[in-house]
Amino acid sequence: MNILMVAGESNPFAKSGGLADVVYSLSKELVKKGNKVSIVIPCYKKIKEQVMKEHMFDFEMVTTFPVCMSWRIQYCGVFKVNHDGIDYYFIDNEQYFYRDGLYGFDDDIERFAYFNLAVVELVLKLQMKIDVIHIHDWQAGMIPLLLKTDYRAAINYYVPHFVLTIHNPAFQGRFDPYFLGDYFNLSDVYYRDGTVRFENSASFLKAAIMLCDKITTVSPNHARELLEGEHAYGLQNVIRLREYDFVGIVNGVDEEEFDPRHDDQIAMKFTSKNVLEAKMVNKRDLLKKFGIKNPDLPLFGLVSRLTFQKGVSLILDAIPHISGKANIILLGSGEAELESRAKFLGECFAENVATYFGYNDELAHKIYAACDYFLMPSLFEPCGIGQMIAHRYGALPIVRTTGGLKDTVIGFNGENLKEADGFTFDDYTLEGLLGPCQSALDLYAYEDERYVMMKNAMNKNHSWEASAEMYLGVYREITGKNS
Ligand code: GLC
Repeated sequence: MNILMVAGESNPFAKSGGLADVVYSLSKELVKKGNKVSIVIPCYKKIKEQVMKEHMFDFEMVTTFPVCMSWRIQYCGVFKVNHDGIDYYFIDNEQYFYRDGLYGFDDDIERFAYFNLAVVELVLKLQMKIDVIHIHDWQAGMIPLLLKTDYRAAINYYVPHFVLTIHNPAFQGRFDPYFLGDYFNLSDVYYRDGTVRFENSASFLKAAIMLCDKITTVSPNHARELLEGEHAYGLQNVIRLREYDFVGIVNGVDEEEFDPRHDDQIAMKFTSKNVLEAKMVNKRDLLKKFGIKNPDLPLFGLVSRLTFQKGVSLILDAIPHISGKANIILLGSGEAELESRAKFLGECFAENVATYFGYNDELAHKIYAACDYFLMPSLFEPCGIGQMIAHRYGALPIVRTTGGLKDTVIGFNGENLKEADGFTFDDYTLEGLLGPCQSALDLYAYEDERYVMMKNAMNKNHSWEASAEMYLGVYREITGKNS
C-alpha cells in the first residue's frame, strides 16, 4: 500500500506535541510491515536553520512550482529526505514558515491554506500514485475537498482514498467563508451546502470529517466521548453523521526511543529486574542537578505541554499539599500564566520542587527514569503518550479517567494489585487529584506491592504493532486492496 501522511508536524524534524510522535512512529511501523509511506510537513525555520545546517540528513531539492491562491501567486520549494525508510517532503515558503514556532500566528489559516494547496500541487507534479492520503488534524483538512472538486480533472479523476485522524478536537481551523474563494479558489457553494460550514464559520476539520472515507481518533474511549459530546468542542453532531465510518484506535509508543534498557540519556539503564535500584540511582542523579537534597522521598514528575488541557493548574494547586512529603519535578512550556505560577511555587517550595521551562529531550528521559509517580490529571486527553512512556520506565502514572488515559491505565483500588499499573480518579477537582496522590504516598512504604505494580507497568504492551495493523485494516477496507 502506498500511503501519504500529511500533518503540521512530525518527528524527528518538527514537534509541538504528541502528534509529531504519532505521525512518525505509526509511519515507521507501516514501513516495517512492507508499505510505502511518505510524510509531508511544512519546512519550518528550525528545519532550515538547525536540521539542514547540521547536515544530519541529506536534503534533496526535488521541485519548485507556483501555488495559486486566487490573486496571490506564491512560491513553493520542496525538499526531500529519506529517514527510517520514510520519504519526508518539506514544503518551503519563507513568508509562511520561516518563523519561530509552528502555529499560533494570526495568519495560520492563510499559512495552512497555502500548505494544503501546495500538497495537492506536489501530488500532481510528482505524479504520486497514492492509495491513501492520511491527514492529521485540521492543518491538512481541506485536501480532500480540493482533490475531490477543483483538482479532480487535473489528477485524471484518480482520486485517492482519505483517512482523517483527529488528535485534538479543540483545534478546528475555523475561518470566515469569504476565504474559501480568496485562499482556496473554491466556490462558496461548499459553505452553503454545509460541507465546510461549522457554527457559522468555515472549518478545515469539518470539511475533512465530511469528505474523508474513514475518520479515526486516537483511543476507543475518546471516540465514545466525541460521539457523546464530552470534550467534543461541538463536533458531536458532525461526527454522528459519520458514525459508521468512525473508529478509535489507540496510539502506541516508539519502543526504540523509550527503552530503559538502551537509553543513553539516563544515569543507569534498567529492566524490570533491577528497576528499584535503578530508580534510586536515576533519582539521585536528577535531584542533584536541581539541587534537591532528600532523595528518600517519593518523586512525582510531569513532562507536558503546560496548557489548560493537561490539568496543570490542578497540579499547581496540589503542590502545597504534597511538597514536604514528596519531591516534584515539572518540565514543560506553554501558557504564560501557568509557567509563572509554577515558577512562583518552585521558589516557595524550593527544597522539594523544581521546574524547567522549555522542552529538553534528555531531561524528559531522565524524569521518566527517575520518578516514582508520573502526573497526568488531564481535563481531556484524546490519547496521551506520557502515561505510556512512564509505564515503560516503571513510573506509575496518576491520571484522570478521561479519553485514552482510561484505556491505557489500570488504577489501583486496593484489591487489584495483580493488574494495576497506576492510579486513577474521576473528578476534575483538587480533592479528586489529592486522593490518588495520597494512595501513591501511602504505597511508597510498601516496596513489594509497589514493585508488583512497577512490573505490571513495564510489562504492558504499548507497541505500535496491533494499532498499525488496525490502521492497515482501515486502509484495506476503503481501497479494497489487500497489500
Ligand atoms: C494530541 C492529544 C493527545 C494525543 C496526541 C497524539 O496532542 O492531545 O492526547 O496523545 O495528540 O495523538
